Amino acid sequence: MLIQGKVGLITGAASGMGRAASLMFAREGARLACADLNLAGVERVASDIAGAGGEAIPCPLDIASRTSARAAVERTVRRFGRLDFLVNYAGVWDGRNIADIEDEHWDRVLDVNLKGAFLICQAATPVMIEQRYGRIVLIGSIAARVGGEMGGPHYAASKGGVISLGRALARRLGKYNITVNTINPGPVESEMTAGWSAEAKMAMARMTPLGRIGVPDDIVSATLFLVSDLSGWLTGETLEVNGGIYFG
Ligand SMILES: NC(=O)c1ccc[n+]([C@@H]2O[C@H](COP(=O)([O-])OP(=O)(O)OC[C@H]3O[C@@H](n4cnc5c(N)ncnc54)[C@H](O)[C@@H]3O)[C@@H](O)[C@H]2O)c1
Repeated sequence: MLIQGKVGLITGAASGMGRAASLMFAREGARLACADLNLAGVERVASDIAGAGGEAIPCPLDIASRTSARAAVERTVRRFGRLDFLVNYAGVWDGRNIADIEDEHWDRVLDVNLKGAFLICQAATPVMIEQRYGRIVLIGSIAARVGGEMGGPHYAASKGGVISLGRALARRLGKYNITVNTINPGPVESEMTAGWSAEAKMAMARMTPLGRIGVPDDIVSATLFLVSDLSGWLTGETLEVNGGIYFG
């Protein structure tokens, strides 16, 4: 058990990668706050974890809100007394092209994906600094590296910002024994990509040396390494987890 007894806050925990991470990390012995805009979804995840003998609390979160991000961290610490790791899977996707992106589309994607990533880290870091220990994993995207064939330019830009944010935080937090790394997933089957055509997914699988698009656990197992003590001297890094579809 790589993270036995550690306390983690997982955002976007109601579905896709966040849900899969909650289940896997609980099996690995972590105590979790599972946070999401979809409260009913995280209540189900927490109850599945409890049913399997693990420990998790559901936590309401709108990551684009400073107050809500703070409340999620406070709730975690009130329940478990500390916060060892934060993984930020919460995100929104939008496939609109250049001409169709209005202010509201731009703002929503940037507010959730980039500002939200900052706000949840800003809320979590005082606790980690006090502990002189922390592991933070941000979630970018292959779209930030290749321009995003499916996602819109605003989505790709938001994820490019996440990569830079991770580096900036890593530089400032290393002296407190806090690591900050980013994972750039390639295309992964989840609620987010459920609307993509089978044809588009097959085309991506054909371009991928490992011959398939990802499943949430492909990303989650790489995340497990980054929240564990196996990665203690690794920070400011961006890990491309994509079956080899893109070598950067
Ligand atoms: N699926 C992919 O192919 C893929 C590829 C690259 C990157 N990503 C990124 O990986 C992360 C996880 O994606 P996924 O595929 O699991 O998606 P998903 O849609 O299954 O899960 C995203 C979760 O984020 C939550 N969320 C959305 N807005 C929120 C907000 N304001 N506050 C709190 N929670 C909010 C949703 O309710 C949902 O439960 C996202 O950041 C996504 O951009 C996904």
